[in-house]
Amino acid sequence: MIDSGIGGATVCKQIRQTVNGCDYMYIVDNANFPYGNKDKKDLIRIANDCVELANKLCNSLACIVIACNTLTAIAIDWLRQRYPYITFVGTEPAVKQATEYSAGNILVATTYASARSDRLKKRFDGEFIKFVAFPELASMIENDAHEKDISQYIENVANELTFNFDCIVLGCTHFVHVKHIFERIFVKQVFDGNKGVASRVRSIVGKCNEWSCGVEIVLTKPDEYKLLQLQRLLGI
Ligand code: DGL
Repeated sequence: MIDSGIGGATVCKQIRQTVNGCDYMYIVDNANFPYGNKDKKDLIRIANDCVELANKLCNSLACIVIACNTLTAIAIDWLRQRYPYITFVGTEPAVKQATEYSAGNILVATTYASARSDRLKKRFDGEFIKFVAFPELASMIENDAHEKDISQYIENVANELTFNFDCIVLGCTHFVHVKHIFERIFVKQVFDGNKGVASRVRSIVGKCNEWSCGVEIVLTKPDEYKLLQLQRLLGI
């Protein structure tokens, strides 16, 4: 699993609850955090570096999960072309679930880079699908900002919106950590794509060795505090 920070932990937890007995490596690219304000060229170079690192560190890779909506939106097509022999699982916003739930507008909350991505616009085309960037939110979550400040920030972005919406899709894995805040502020249904990622992984790896199911955390920049934060979030 690859992410810029703690967002990937929400994906990792869901995968570990769904798939039995795999060994996991979670590459936390904290050296390049945040991804959401970087351009396409940088994100492709970063994605390539992370995949090279995964290839170097893992000797039998069943798949690489891009546990990050931004990297999926910007780089997964490029990665699939560059590494045709690797199975990549991307993290996509759960727009399909949201359209089954509602016929009205859907707010998809993302990073700045995802909100501008051509891939997402093409994949989830429709006037009722509203991509909205929350540019500072991933950093606030990564840096353990106070819940009150996170709520205030989300409300500030929402106050600028010029449309109504029926439900929300979290299009950034960091935002899943504060799903309860979105639910509390908007009192609306909030979806995330993590269950979809986990079932895709289960369909790829099937049932494997029941006994080993550890997570090795690899930081791209040493940071004791980050490691402790991740261990706490993953319950390891
Ligand atoms: N967790 C990432 C995502 O899902 C990105 C956060 C960031 O590095 O900006 O989009």
